[in-house]
Parts: sequence; structure tokens; C-alpha cells
Amino acid sequence: MAVPADTSALRAIRAQALPDLPYSCERGFCGTCQQRVPAGTVDHRDDLLTDAERADSLLLCVSRAHGGRLVLDL
Ligand code: FES
Repeated sequence: MAVPADTSALRAIRAQALPDLPYSCERGFCGTCQQRVPAGTVDHRDDLLTDAERADSLLLCVSRAHGGRLVLDL
């Protein structure tokens, strides 16, 4: 699935595949949209996750793929 530059991964996934995917703040504050990332490099754009959490997950509402591709465990 491609995520356009002008929208979030959260919004793209909800619009194209999983409309019931949970979220709340859409600003990287609450952690509701945290998902596991089995493969790929994340461009983390939140201040919430710990380094340990960042090792295998991301916040879909604010973070992006670094290098173009992520595998998500939804
Ligand atoms: S919806 Fe709150 S951190 Fe993503």
C-alpha cells in the first residue's frame, strides 16, 4: 500500500484496508495507534515511544517509512 506524502499511514490504512483500526489523538501523544513493524526502517516522528519500543514498533499517525517500505503486523 502506498501512503501519499500528504496523509498519514494511519489514515491511508483506515481508508484503504482497515476502517476500524483504532486511533485517538492523531498527534503522536496517546499511543493508541502503536503497531509492530517486523521489517523496515521507521522515521519516528513522535516523542512518546521509548527506544525499546521504537526498535520494533511505530505510531501510525505520525511516523513514516525511512527508505520507502515498511512491513506492518496489523
Ligand atoms: S492516535 Fe494517538 S498516538 Fe497515534
